[in-house]
Amino acid sequence: MDKLIITGGVRLDGEIRVSGAKNSALPILAATLLSDTPVTVCNLPHLHDITTMFELFGCMGIDLLVDEKMNVEVHASTIKHLRAPYELVKTMRASILVLGPILARHGRAEVSLPGGCAIGSRPVDLHIRGLQQMGADVIVEDGYIKAVVNGRLKGTKISMDTVTVTGTENILMAATLAEGETIIENAAREPEVVDLAECLITMGAKISGHGTGTIRIQGVKKLKGCSYTVLPDRIEAGTYLIATAATQGRIRLKDVQPDIMDAILVKLREAGATIEWGKDWIELNMHGQKPKAVDLKTAPFPAMPTDIQAQFTALNAIAEGTGHVTETIFENRFMHIQEMKRMGADVTIEGNTVIVRGVNKLKAAPVMATDLRASASLVIAGLVADGNTEIERIYHIDRGYECIEEKLRQLGANIQRIAG
Ligand code: EPZ
Repeated sequence: MDKLIITGGVRLDGEIRVSGAKNSALPILAATLLSDTPVTVCNLPHLHDITTMFELFGCMGIDLLVDEKMNVEVHASTIKHLRAPYELVKTMRASILVLGPILARHGRAEVSLPGGCAIGSRPVDLHIRGLQQMGADVIVEDGYIKAVVNGRLKGTKISMDTVTVTGTENILMAATLAEGETIIENAAREPEVVDLAECLITMGAKISGHGTGTIRIQGVKKLKGCSYTVLPDRIEAGTYLIATAATQGRIRLKDVQPDIMDAILVKLREAGATIEWGKDWIELNMHGQKPKAVDLKTAPFPAMPTDIQAQFTALNAIAEGTGHVTETIFENRFMHIQEMKRMGADVTIEGNTVIVRGVNKLKAAPVMATDLRASASLVIAGLVADGNTEIERIYHIDRGYECIEEKLRQLGANIQRIAG
């Protein structure tokens, strides 16, 4: 397995481009299954999860045309199998996103139940319940979700017990082809949900209220092909801003959307960063100062994203003062803490809060990535540690960060990938 070796102590300084958002690309690729005619999706990030989705489509017999820029043309009318197998779903939970579209378009679908993952049990009960409320018969048998509906799904009012991003996305996609109106209450408001809705509208869907807690969908008989460009990745952008703040450096991000990053930008200003931005760029400058520790609590959008808490913990580890980081979305998203302790971080877990007392320096150590965002926090810790930090199991990083070592080298970091 590949590993990364980072020699810490370099102040990041430079300019990089932000890639398309993984968590927007995945539901939008699933949405292409709703259309009879080809859909082209542009600005896809070069990530393992995206190629896993391509493999899943291949498994279902769907023809794809992928160009050298990772734009893809999906011919969903060529689909031959309505089944998403365990072998693929176990490697990427987001495969569950094909359930709603395939059921709505073809009247039946079989998707392997995604297992839990490192950060939590990750149930999909709300996905299933929503489809059942729309008239589908759904059973879980032999580790598979088996859904069938006679004729079309029926629009109805669905109130989500918990705000769920992919749960909202699955029901939203299914509702576009249902008979009548569907109202999703307590819907997720994430920008990636809005991006999916905008793509569906481009395909002819009738949707309003996306980005608020109540989404209304008027079902239509068919959706048509289109070309759609995925929005920039706010979590990737936030990760590089935090890494630059931790190293007391300076960065300019291009092809980014500042207006969906308020919670992250406000917190970085609290940490002492000077931040300027325009329509599609952000500049952060620490003026060579150490960051100040910050307190944060994760919650659904527009609050602090859970996908950025580990990165802020790494910032707090070498900041002035003590920061409190509270995780409210997932039950086990502190796996990076033990690894950071091995690097000399002064961190204590109390319930769902980590208390981080800033230390002057972290020390390089061999550490292990456990999930996508935890591994990003270990990269940040390696950038500020004394010595060479070795990070194992970096396939986790490759799932969510396009060309991470190239982008960090562009910013002056001393980082190597060792093929293993
Ligand atoms: C999405 O996961 C993202 N993944 C995650 O990003 C992100 O961390 C998460 O939303 C929260 O923002 C994609 O978009 C592909 P949820 P998702 O359903 O949809 C509970 C990354 O790092 N829940 O919003 O799976 C669940 O247990 C990944 O890129 C139910 O109880 O998360 C959790 O406590 C990690 N029943 C809460 O809702 C359900 O049926 C929020 O989870 C569904 C969810």
